[in-house]
Amino acid sequence: MTNTIKHVASPLARQTLLDSELTRPVAGRNPIRLLPWLQVIKIGGRAIMDRGAQAILPVVEELRKLLPEHRLLILTGAGVRARHLYGVGLDLGLPVGALAPLAASEAGQNGHILASMLAPDGVSYVEHPTVANQLSIHFGAARALVGSAFPPYHHHEFPTSRLPTHRADVGAFLVADALGAAGLTIVEDVDGVFDADPAVNPEAKLIKETSAAELAALKGPLPIDRALLDVMPNARHLQRVQVVNGLVPGRITAALRGEHVGTVVHAGATPR
Ligand SMILES: Nc1ncnc2c1ncn2[C@@H]1O[C@H](COP(=O)(O)OP(=O)(O)OP(=O)(O)O)[C@@H](O)[C@H]1O
Ligand SMILES: [Mg+2]
Repeated sequence: MTNTIKHVASPLARQTLLDSELTRPVAGRNPIRLLPWLQVIKIGGRAIMDRGAQAILPVVEELRKLLPEHRLLILTGAGVRARHLYGVGLDLGLPVGALAPLAASEAGQNGHILASMLAPDGVSYVEHPTVANQLSIHFGAARALVGSAFPPYHHHEFPTSRLPTHRADVGAFLVADALGAAGLTIVEDVDGVFDADPAVNPEAKLIKETSAAELAALKGPLPIDRALLDVMPNARHLQRVQVVNGLVPGRITAALRGEHVGTVVHAGATPR
């Protein structure tokens, strides 16, 4: 009888997947870059989209001019509507896994707005499953696509906080790294990461170059998700992100050309 059994050869068949020593021969290699030419841009929900036309139109103009030069995945964050939603939801006692997809849909609304403005240039909004599996065919037809920057954790959000900890910056980073993208630029309404919130403390100083570990040690608020600092050191491809001021025309363009115009945050140690 044993002779008729078809065995499926697998180097992992006879061992636990929990022992990294045993899985390393197969799983230790770096993944390939799926879209090495892709530039990912995260547009702040609060920083840009909530400001309406006066902030959105110049950013749209800048993105439009970038299209011949780059292929872009533009991901939008949630803004003030998500904050309202968190307030109502928390007051009702909703679990974090119920709040996360609602906030993600607010980020998606901002994406729809941005994509509508770029529609004459062939840009459309795409949903998460398309971002996951069908970007290549869409980039065959368009220079840029827009999506929600939230990660699709939905009810699988981690129950460590009453608010979703994995928000737009984390989502943008995870997808950019998973795709092996060339870069991630995070667009804010401030010149970068300061040593304190510049809206509250006029003495706050801009940090031009830092690392995820250094920012994690910094007390006080940040313009990027704190959970981003946890995921960055585990990146397979993205070695740095740049946080730039989208309210200053030309900053996004310069960042995509590799210029240092905001705060560069290194995934690993800051090169000295
Ligand atoms: N250390 C800091 N350095 C710079 N800005 C800070 C800092 N701490 C707080 N901020 C504030 O963060 C604001 C940006 O807020 P936030 O990051 O929530 O917006 P956003 O990125 O548009 O939101 P979302 O992630 O929902 O898209 C800035 O306008 C600034 O006032
Ligand atoms: Mg931000």
